[in-house]
Amino acid sequence: MLKIIVCVSGGGTNLQAIIDGVEKGAIRNTRIAGVISNNAGAFALERARKAGIPAYCVSPKDYGNRQAFNDAFLEQVNSLAPDLIVLAGFLVILPEKMIQAYRERIINIHPSLIPSFCGTGFYGLKVHEAALARGVKVTGATVHYVDEGTDTGRIIAQKAVEVLESDTPVSLQRRVMEQAEWVILPMAIDRIAAEHTEDSVHKKREGCK
Ligand code: GRF
Repeated sequence: MLKIIVCVSGGGTNLQAIIDGVEKGAIRNTRIAGVISNNAGAFALERARKAGIPAYCVSPKDYGNRQAFNDAFLEQVNSLAPDLIVLAGFLVILPEKMIQAYRERIINIHPSLIPSFCGTGFYGLKVHEAALARGVKVTGATVHYVDEGTDTGRIIAQKAVEVLESDTPVSLQRRVMEQAEWVILPMAIDRIAAEHTEDSVHKKREGCK
């Protein structure tokens, strides 16, 4: 069983796709051990509570400096002992110590086809504004591992979405979420859970020899 935690900052529609995926069996061998937000007002926390998932807020506003927040955030993550950390609309730069401690065990959903429209300053609607300004005919979403860079980790999955002449940043964001993000993030977690389960079975067999 893959134990995951989901880090959120906003509305939590990607979190909801994960919750629904686990409940409906689209995401197998997975348990959501907790949801952590940096934003006490994030509706994503309501989504977690409604689903009976432990919800925590670790807000930078409650700490005197960045280091104190980083330490408290990492302590909250460690207390849940996740196999996988999922960043779903999470707008906080992760502490370096956390990336080192969870190497290849943190994934993120980004609302473009990386390497387009990504990196510092490209988040939320800004990504779609840039895609429309450039005039691309296709955009989409990417799930990738998180490393020390911004949106630079190894790509796990991508899904393309057509850009319509009539699109606004809001209409494009909605279609990318519906047709790409909410599809590939659950699929990526299901795939990682399958590998995790196979590894566990293999280790047990090895241990029995
Ligand atoms: C989405 O555009 C997602 O791609 C980005 O954050 C935005 C909000 O996501 N990572 P959510 O509704 O909070 O999951």
